Amino acid sequence: MLENLTEIEKAALEALGAVRDEAALEAWRVAFLGRSSPLMQVFAGLGGLSKEERPVVGQRANEVKKALEARLAAKSEELRAAALKRSLEEERLDVTLPGRHLPRGRLHPDTQMLRELYRVFGEMGFQVYRSREVESDEYNFQLLNFPVGHPARDMQDTYFVDADGKDADNPTVLRTHTSPGQIHAMREYSARDPQNPPPVRIILPGMVYRYEQTDARHEMQFDQLEGLAVGPGITFSNLKGTLTDMARRLFGPQARTRFRASFFPFTEPSAEFDIECFLCGGKGCAVCGGGWLEIGGSGMVHPVVLRNGGYDPKRYTGFAFGFGIQRIAMLKYHISDIRLFWQNDLRFLEQF
Ligand code: FA5
Repeated sequence: MLENLTEIEKAALEALGAVRDEAALEAWRVAFLGRSSPLMQVFAGLGGLSKEERPVVGQRANEVKKALEARLAAKSEELRAAALKRSLEEERLDVTLPGRHLPRGRLHPDTQMLRELYRVFGEMGFQVYRSREVESDEYNFQLLNFPVGHPARDMQDTYFVDADGKDADNPTVLRTHTSPGQIHAMREYSARDPQNPPPVRIILPGMVYRYEQTDARHEMQFDQLEGLAVGPGITFSNLKGTLTDMARRLFGPQARTRFRASFFPFTEPSAEFDIECFLCGGKGCAVCGGGWLEIGGSGMVHPVVLRNGGYDPKRYTGFAFGFGIQRIAMLKYHISDIRLFWQNDLRFLEQF
């Protein structure tokens, strides 16, 4: 019986030497340690042995069982380590490879330009005031001193949203300029203290709409930045100083500017504000025409407009201006066609 156990152990250890994977190891376990294995048969037969033989054979059978179990555990660990090593070698991760490119969004050049202007005017003490894009004819024109049927309305071709019906004299329009915000702002400020309205120093940014024939300089929707300063003793020199300073802060101390006498019903006197074209160096090109790019209109707030806003023109004066944001961005970034702004062409947008 003892020899039989030695044979069993020898056979088991020999067979274990040939085991190469987990499945073969499991088959080995069933064959040599399973319920019907020769070793277990020895345990089952212990009852039939003599009193003397039983403890000797039993002890030896236990030794063999423990030895085989220890080898099983060791082999299992060996196979697991080998499998891990193999998978690490086969599925090696090269952390030095460049990562996958994740496209990043950015701000539209128009928004970038606006934010830069907020910074420049913020430094000069102007606050941002937001006003609506859908306006009434009254605010867009009438309160700004463009009466119904006034020829100056022809300067701003208009999208009428609702021109019929009972409000024929006050149709709803997409604002043609940011100037109606002047009235909203002055009325809000003056309502705080009607006898002694506080001074105003604001910029009013936003989209405006015109029924326009588009070309390199003209779009049918574009952003404007309006400015309004109202207070006792404000003069045209303040306007000139503010806009000249703005141009230098944006384009550098060499920036050349000019004011040309003009007409707007809501300012008196009025002036166009031009900056020398950087695209052609002032020689004249398809974008600017004559070497200067018209950036916006400006002037001293008309007494009628001050009164419509709740400010007594005998006590208060003010200046106002309205710029085309794309026109400034064209100068700053050397963009030759305004229509590029809203075409959503990534080849254009990704340059900013
Ligand atoms: C106005 O819109 C006046 N509200 C400006 C103003 C405000 C004057 C306050 C006085 C006091 P104008 O129509 O000129 O003015 O337009 C102002 C600027 O908007 C132009 O100088 C130009 O830079 C820009 N602009 C006008 N039309 C277009 C267009 N179709 N496409 C792109 N930019 C335009």
